[in-house]
Amino acid sequence: MTGKYLTEIEGFTRESGWADPSQASAASRAYAERLEDGNILFLPSLPHAFSPEDLKFLYSLDQDDSAIHKNISYRPKQDILRGFGSSQPEKVETMHRIMREYSAGVVKMMSALLPAYAAKWTLDYASYRPYEEENRDLPLHKRNDLVHTDAFPSRPTHGGLILRCFTNVNPAQPRVWSTTARFPTLAKQYAADAGLPKIVAREASPLRGVRKGLNALKSAVGIKSPNHSAYDLFMLGFHDYLKENTSFQTDAEKFRTDFPPLSTWITFTDVVPHAVLSGRYALEQTFIVPVNALFDASKSPVRVLESIAGTSLVS
Ligand SMILES: [Fe+2]
Repeated sequence: MTGKYLTEIEGFTRESGWADPSQASAASRAYAERLEDGNILFLPSLPHAFSPEDLKFLYSLDQDDSAIHKNISYRPKQDILRGFGSSQPEKVETMHRIMREYSAGVVKMMSALLPAYAAKWTLDYASYRPYEEENRDLPLHKRNDLVHTDAFPSRPTHGGLILRCFTNVNPAQPRVWSTTARFPTLAKQYAADAGLPKIVAREASPLRGVRKGLNALKSAVGIKSPNHSAYDLFMLGFHDYLKENTSFQTDAEKFRTDFPPLSTWITFTDVVPHAVLSGRYALEQTFIVPVNALFDASKSPVRVLESIAGTSLVS
């Protein structure tokens, strides 16, 4: 399954790692460079050996299950499960264990596949998406069927890239994505309209020092408030800007990909604008990769934006 922007990983399996260890370093670098170019890496298998009972449990979670909030998330660093509040403690424990084991399995596989990134990445959250994505009734900015680049309101990356490993555990249906031209192309076309000059001007203003002082004061007294860089502010706005831009949504050239049942794909979701058109039962683990872990940092969203803005966007 290889095509424009899609690269099937060869010579590597979850169980055995690289078929030819002498080529592992070169192969791993080549796949990382494909990611940095805005490709999606594809594996026709699962990153973790789910037991049949665990898969059955995942499929048993119904759309109308009051135990499920919008998303079930797992924070591996703290071993915390969120978004699943069943009245049956044993169900919560099963969900928690499945997410813990999935997350650990993905980390192991990704560390073998992309060791240069693994040396520097920060482990972020994992999630389970049990709902059918087609015709979901969500507010515009939360809609997954509109093409967007990812940004996390509560977790600024300060230029770090959002690397995500997705798994379609659906036994019968594909998960269908639509993508467009990658971030560097969209940034050239839309960054000014999406507010980059305004953010740069605000960062240059004397009030910025006052804002920074306030933030420092807040954290000193224990008030948690995410410290967004200019880059983070732009990326949050760009996520919304793309979803609001009806001519972009309608007219941009689209590339459709059907990820088959029981398969895995990996991509930088801030480099690759994406929409989910259909599918249910998907899991995902996120990593934040700092710019200095990349083989070619000039392709990263932060460096692309800085070259357009003519100034640093993280400090
Ligand atoms: Fe997304």
